[in-house]
Amino acid sequence: VATGPLSGKHVIVTSGPTHEPIDPVRYIANRSSGAQGTAIAAALRDLGARVSFVTGPATVPPPEGVDVIGVETAQAMRDAVAAALPADAAVMAAAVADWRVENASQSKIKKDGMGNFPVLSFAENPDILAWVSQLTEGRPQLVVGFAAETDDVVAHATAKRLRKQADWIVANDVSPATGIMGGTENAVTVIRDDGATEWPRMAKDAVARRLADEIAKALA
Ligand code: C5P
Repeated sequence: VATGPLSGKHVIVTSGPTHEPIDPVRYIANRSSGAQGTAIAAALRDLGARVSFVTGPATVPPPEGVDVIGVETAQAMRDAVAAALPADAAVMAAAVADWRVENASQSKIKKDGMGNFPVLSFAENPDILAWVSQLTEGRPQLVVGFAAETDDVVAHATAKRLRKQADWIVANDVSPATGIMGGTENAVTVIRDDGATEWPRMAKDAVARRLADEIAKALA
């Protein structure tokens, strides 16, 4: 068992995209490498936490030394988070698809050669962050969400924190001009009940380590 400020603590981290099937061979998804969630899970592990890492089909490999629960869909991610509870903290870094295909086909959809196209209809996926934040029984002491915004970052993220009832929102500006999306650095603003704190631009690994330190302080 690892020692450190988070030893004896259990933290759930969601990461990566979700895939929502159209048929057995096709899906819709969000763009997400899983890099930030993976770095956060590793940083929490390094501080001694037991980490349940609930990950969609990410492109980066999961860290060693964490419990990896691989899922495809948002509904499966919600179920995996429910199964991993109770936890002292939850960090929701996954890029969850907001909608699933309601009329997904059990068999591969064929071209009919007559110019007819399939019509997809959508249903709303569960909002895992809002659900965990609003648990009346067994809510983790600390729930952290993310907000990728392109404008009015602090205003939108502050509203998101209140709407979902997360404790902290880690917000970042993903406008193309920042070079953050797909890059190795991040510049985040952390929003809590006492206001917004802008962190200097730093490597995504460093953001993860600082966030893990702050989580350890909050749970101490
Ligand atoms: O509403 P939006 O998708 O911008 O919120 C982002 C935050 O909410 C992230 O922390 C993300 O992991 C979480 N989320 C979730 N379940 C969803 C949608 C978003 O947990 N269905």
